Amino acid sequence: MAARRFRTLQDAPVGSHRVLVRVDFNVPMEQGRVADDTRLKAALATIAELRQRGARVILISHLGRPEGQPVASMSLEPLAQPLSALVGAPVAFATDCIGPSANQAVDELGDGDLLLLENLRFHPGEETNDPTFVRALASLGDLYVNDAFSASHRAHASTEGLARRLPAYAGRALEGELLALEQALGSPERPVIGLVGGAKISTKIDLLNNLVGKLQYLAIGGAMANTFLYAQGHDIGASRCEKERSDTALAILATARTAGCRVLLPTDAVVAEAAEPGVASRVVDLSHIRRNEAIFDLGPASLQQIIDALEASKTLIWNGPIGVFEVPPFDEGTLRIARRAAELTTSGKLITVAGGGDTAAALNRAGLAQALTFVSTAGGAFLEWMEGKTLPGIAALEWR
Ligand code: 3PG
Repeated sequence: MAARRFRTLQDAPVGSHRVLVRVDFNVPMEQGRVADDTRLKAALATIAELRQRGARVILISHLGRPEGQPVASMSLEPLAQPLSALVGAPVAFATDCIGPSANQAVDELGDGDLLLLENLRFHPGEETNDPTFVRALASLGDLYVNDAFSASHRAHASTEGLARRLPAYAGRALEGELLALEQALGSPERPVIGLVGGAKISTKIDLLNNLVGKLQYLAIGGAMANTFLYAQGHDIGASRCEKERSDTALAILATARTAGCRVLLPTDAVVAEAAEPGVASRVVDLSHIRRNEAIFDLGPASLQQIIDALEASKTLIWNGPIGVFEVPPFDEGTLRIARRAAELTTSGKLITVAGGGDTAAALNRAGLAQALTFVSTAGGAFLEWMEGKTLPGIAALEWR
């Protein structure tokens, strides 16, 4: 199993040690409060295990992009109370992640206690992976645990530097995520279908090129599909499209043909003059899009084509909504596919792994995230993993 390429908590001599745990508490905030606690909950298994094994648990994270200086709205302090409620134990907070306040807070910890340090990115050394900053952080702990897959594509002090300096282990959430991802793309049950949506082909070229070599089906949706349709000579009206990427789209289709990957592109669409609530929309085949209309969702024939492929597959890997899912009725395509994927998963016919901020949000909103095998909230890290890249924070955890 891939996860065993890495040291995990079961390899860690935890008792009474000070354990620095890199979590991803980069949560959405609204008016100074946590708006979605999914990422707090993701850390609970590791926190509970470490506390139960007698560790002094020191949580470290970034929030937002403060660019190396303190920014009040990006403080982690408002997370201490909701975290404490979830854990069912007090969570101390230190107003800096290094220096006297951090040292003192760590010194005051007893076995099983929990401390949250202030935002790592208030120091420029975090993102530059500065050795002095790494040393200052490392002095606070005896062991290091990474439980933040979604930050592991960054070679930062807290993801890469610390892992190379202290005995380093994967936390339970990270371990679970690596197992799920390995199951979907490393050694999957075939046939495998990839569903890729989102706005731009330009941000997903590496991903598409990597996937076509590994999948039996690749379904393309979202505005990205428009670029493929345009490249094939369809008149797509006022649809969003990267015309300058036509050659890229055609090259991806050629690579897919050579690799034996069947690409599923839309054959019909839901079009309207604007993606606004209550706007008049209609279903058309691709030859009937008017000049002032744009594609905002897949049509029923395109959806059926994807659902047929889903039913013929054993594994689904999904990144990116396939229509403008924030605005009904253009969420219908994403929802229909999500519902069918959930049914097939529940009946044991399909392994389903989905990831990316928008995809996780769409699935959560539809109440379907729990029904899939695994939904990752990672954005950039999930993309880089789908691109076949090595994530520096993960590589640093390998046995050595
Ligand atoms: C995320 O939310 O995807 C991670 O926390 C990474 O955040 P970043 O893109 O600011 O590094």
